[in-house]
Amino acid sequence: MASINLTVNGKLYTIDADPKMPLLWAIRDLVKLTGTKYGCGIAQCGACTVHLNGTPVRSCSLPVSAAVNQKITTIEGLSPDNSHAVQQAWIKEQVPQCGYCQSGQIMAAAALLKKNPHPTDKDIDAAMQGHICRCGTYVRIRTAIKTAANIMASGVAVATAADETPASR
Ligand code: FES
Ligand code: FES
Repeated sequence: MASINLTVNGKLYTIDADPKMPLLWAIRDLVKLTGTKYGCGIAQCGACTVHLNGTPVRSCSLPVSAAVNQKITTIEGLSPDNSHAVQQAWIKEQVPQCGYCQSGQIMAAAALLKKNPHPTDKDIDAAMQGHICRCGTYVRIRTAIKTAANIMASGVAVATAADETPASR
């Protein structure tokens, strides 16, 4: 066990954990943010996706020690009030079914749009590859990413996560 400092959604947490503990467990069990989900535990489904310095990572397969002194953003930190363009689009397009995979999908989509505000279908497929949805919401996800891109382009979206700034701003 070690005392580990984590910065999650702009807030500093000091936790006692084995440095080899997966970041996912530190976020869920020790920081107590449970929006990030456990699906497979072997980096194959994307349910556990969070941002590390703005880049999507699979937190089930990353040791917590790798996240020290990095900016971690979880679904709870994407915006304070669901106002991120991707969240607005997800609501508008009614994307979720059971919802289990959706925080990972949203985090992946947000990272894509930050890097590429006008993604093609091919760009979307590449970025979302490996994000499994057992309910088969893939078509709505693709539509919602395009809707989010339009929201961002219109300048209506607000995103205030610690490491997130819409590329259009
Ligand atoms: S739980 Fe991490 S990729 Fe499936
Ligand atoms: S909405 Fe059910 S697994 Fe994706």
